[in-house]
Amino acid sequence: MSPSAACSSGQVFWQQGAVDRSAREELARQQGVTLWLTGLSASGKSTTAYALERQLIEAGRLCCVLDGDNLRHGINRNLGFTHEDRTENIRRTAEIARLMNDAGLIVIASLISPLITDRGMAGEIIGTGRFVEIYLNTPLEVCEARDPKKLYSKARQGLITHFTGISAPYEAPLSADICINTAQFSPVEAAQLILSKTKLHLDVQSGKGN
Ligand code: ADX
Repeated sequence: MSPSAACSSGQVFWQQGAVDRSAREELARQQGVTLWLTGLSASGKSTTAYALERQLIEAGRLCCVLDGDNLRHGINRNLGFTHEDRTENIRRTAEIARLMNDAGLIVIASLISPLITDRGMAGEIIGTGRFVEIYLNTPLEVCEARDPKKLYSKARQGLITHFTGISAPYEAPLSADICINTAQFSPVEAAQLILSKTKLHLDVQSGKGN
């Protein structure tokens, strides 16, 4: 029997704690939300995410970055870049983000997450009102010219397969909450922009449970 079948067949039960999320959020004086950064490789996701983390910490907000590259060194180390593996990469990351949000933490997730359906799944796992989609819409030409890890060059030579933007698709969000082109803004400016647009969202919404 598969693990998910065990849940639906009634062999595994949800254990309810005595402290709910809103109690932790009151204590932390912030709402556990996920700021989900999507965009091409080298669009500036990681640098913006870490600049945002620093600004949030300086503003007294407890937060944590979930970076795609870093997660692939640990919990997602068995995953590659096929559609199926990316979907699983995003599902696991979203589940971790939800747990962290439940604990009252603000999460900054930084993953290419190239497909609309996968980002939709992440939004469903994390929950409406807690998932903020931030699209770094830096053009492919700019990302490719930056090429800090020389991956675009390898992809062009056919040395890397399924490379997003070259030999694998990137589907732009249709209605992202925030769009930023990092060809026009530094990571610090991009982070400031995100912070100013999400400030209210981070405050505890009194009377709001899960
Ligand atoms: S995602 O598509 O599944 O969301 P994720 O953000 O975790 O990707 O990882 C992307 C990182 O993996 C890139 O920043 C890049 O360094 C590296 N990488 C290696 N191979 C590929 C590939 N085929 N496509 C995209 N990124 C790749």
